[in-house]
Amino acid sequence: MNKIVTVGVVLAVTLAMAGCEKVEDAGRKVARKTGSVVGKGATEFFSGVGEGIKTVSDGNVPDVLSAIATRKSIRKFDPLRAVEDEKVEKILKAAMCAPSAMDKRPWEFVVVKDKAQLQKLGERLPYSRVANGAQLAIVVCGSLDNGLPGRGKEYWIHDCSAASMNILLAAHGLGLGAVWTGVFPGEERIAIVREILAIPDGYAPLNVIPIGYPAEDPAVKNKWNPAKIHADRW
Ligand SMILES: Cc1cc2nc3c(=O)[nH]c(=O)nc-3n(C[C@H](O)[C@H](O)[C@H](O)COP(=O)(O)O)c2cc1C
Repeated sequence: MNKIVTVGVVLAVTLAMAGCEKVEDAGRKVARKTGSVVGKGATEFFSGVGEGIKTVSDGNVPDVLSAIATRKSIRKFDPLRAVEDEKVEKILKAAMCAPSAMDKRPWEFVVVKDKAQLQKLGERLPYSRVANGAQLAIVVCGSLDNGLPGRGKEYWIHDCSAASMNILLAAHGLGLGAVWTGVFPGEERIAIVREILAIPDGYAPLNVIPIGYPAEDPAVKNKWNPAKIHADRW
């Protein structure tokens, strides 16, 4: 019986890993064809956002998996290649597609393009130094009063995290690099970002996400770990 279980587990893991490799292969193929990881369907989807949203059910699901599987943090950016405004807008549209508790959408986004502002962020935030060499940074902020009672207020962190993940994936899908650099809950970091960006009371910065065309190509980390999965109970 144990043998059968072991063989089953090994088979399942092997198949899952093969699936992962396939996803990465698919990602590379799409990237070669389109210059970005996410294919045509997504472009059509985003052209619809704001004008009456169309569905994305056009059989593009593997592209989503490719984007997820091949995303990685990028910390070096091409200093000479500006990021097109249209791409920034697509990234912000993706951010606002995120789910949020009670659909409160407590997010605000400060788009920092000014070099002096980027330099200030990079110099004063030790963990966000890369902001200094980025073409822009999106600072995801949340409303501390999202209209939910009691501990529900804390959902702004989750909501803004979901929006941040969409930013990372959208940037990657558009051929850009990005990295989440942490601000919240560090009180000192929050105060620094609040001061530089004039963030009003009642809102807090969650992170600083520097963005630009990648000037490095680190390997994607294989984080698949079946030991983290618990079947039916821990
Ligand atoms: C909440 C959070 C905070 C992070 N803070 C920083 C940071 O301050 N500076 C930084 O360079 N990277 C930061 N990162 C990026 C992680 O280091 C990175 O995601 C992790 O090493 C995995 O690598 P990958 O994104 O390439 O898969 C942060 C990521 C998260 C989710």
